[in-house]
Amino acid sequence: MAETIDNGKRQFLKELGAGAALLAAMPWLKACSPEKTEAASQARGQARVALIGCGSRGQYHLTMLRDIAHARVVALCDPYEVNLRAAAAMVPDAKLFSDYRSLLEDRSIDGVIIATPLGSHARITLDALEAGKHVFCEKAMALTLDECKAVYEAYQRSPKALYYCMQRMYDPKYIEGIRKIREGLIGEVVGMRCHWFRNADWRRPVPDPSLERQINWRLYKEHSAGLMTELACHQLEICNWAADKIPVEVAGLGDIVYWKDGREVYDSVSLTYRYSDGRKITYESLISNKYNAMEDQILGKKGTADLTRGVYYLEEDDTVSGMKQLLAQMRDKTFGAIPAAGPSWRPELRNSYTPHPLIKGPQSVNGGQSMVSADHDGSDLILSAFCTSCITGEKVENVVEEAYCATVLCLLGNLAMDTKTVVTFPEEYKIPYMKF
Ligand SMILES: NC(=O)c1ccc[n+]([C@@H]2O[C@H](COP(=O)([O-])OP(=O)(O)OC[C@H]3O[C@@H](n4cnc5c(N)ncnc54)[C@H](O)[C@@H]3O)[C@@H](O)[C@H]2O)c1
Repeated sequence: MAETIDNGKRQFLKELGAGAALLAAMPWLKACSPEKTEAASQARGQARVALIGCGSRGQYHLTMLRDIAHARVVALCDPYEVNLRAAAAMVPDAKLFSDYRSLLEDRSIDGVIIATPLGSHARITLDALEAGKHVFCEKAMALTLDECKAVYEAYQRSPKALYYCMQRMYDPKYIEGIRKIREGLIGEVVGMRCHWFRNADWRRPVPDPSLERQINWRLYKEHSAGLMTELACHQLEICNWAADKIPVEVAGLGDIVYWKDGREVYDSVSLTYRYSDGRKITYESLISNKYNAMEDQILGKKGTADLTRGVYYLEEDDTVSGMKQLLAQMRDKTFGAIPAAGPSWRPELRNSYTPHPLIKGPQSVNGGQSMVSADHDGSDLILSAFCTSCITGEKVENVVEEAYCATVLCLLGNLAMDTKTVVTFPEEYKIPYMKF
């Protein structure tokens, strides 16, 4: 059991043929190399890590850490006693703290994992880097544009590793999907279409009304930027990865359509991000209907990759015979009438396309209802890579930059919706990494 994640990692990198080309294109995977993990743990045993924020996601990280042989959780911190106790039950030997600043004074801790509400990410990250800790922070990077810039600049000056839990960068179906897209699988990329639909209010039970804002932090603007930073953040990052550039402007509309329960953040958003060449990301999220689930579609002239499901579809599919398609449509009663005498078996309907897998073997697909328990979505691998960095001291390439780009785009999306204007990417928040 103790080596599950790293054995899985070895297998995953082997199947992807993790040679120099893959590592050059996706350099953040370098810290993931099984040889590096093994060498690091042989040289110095285990990374001594602490968890700051012991709620739902923090406890999920603890379950992952149990399976990372080169990690040892030595401290836990949470001002909310209920969650601190629940986490302590999972790691009985850990030292307990209610104030993260006291935890940061403990010189025996190599790195901290921050899983607190968004509003505190920047402050804790800055303090932890300053205290000489390696940092793994949950996405998004920060609640405001200025905080993002401050963290980015502090990271440039710091010798310490900083990771953001942008787990799609470590998810085999995304890695392989982007690689195949770059090799021309779906032709020229002409647009992106992403959405995330849930049917849940995002509320947590509150034992005392005075704890409402603390526990239901996602609903209030002092702690959260709502659907954009909670959900869209992951998806916008993928679009930029596929486009290999950053949008120049964004327009959108946001509303509270259904959950009129005192929350301040939108429960329904629709946005369009435009790249300088005219390609667009169409983004939509709604949390009062889950029919459409979660999809990250990269649209190409010759086909479409749905990276969430790990499949691609071809516009002209020579791999599937027309007769086979016709029989499948008759069996599935796809259409009221089959256009058997027409020029094609394929009317312009989405479910007439045949899915092809992006990776070999079984893959885990998440419908998007909860990312906390998502299986093998890359969260385990990125956490393992962080623990390797805690041992080797090596910084990870591109993860901070990708988190910065995605977070800034989320915040600009909110600005566009709040002001009902088209927002152009501001000069002062551009960084050298960005290509427009
Ligand atoms: N990467 C992903 O897919 C993913 C999935 C779920 C959540 N998240 C992120 O994880 C973070 C936590 O989300 P959650 O659902 O676990 O929230 P949560 O409310 O369940 O847990 C947050 C915990 O942080 C504690 N906390 C607040 N301020 C603190 C401080 N100053 N010091 C120490 N602890 C503090 C709270 O008391 C609470 O126990 C958020 O940023 C969220 O966006 C990421």
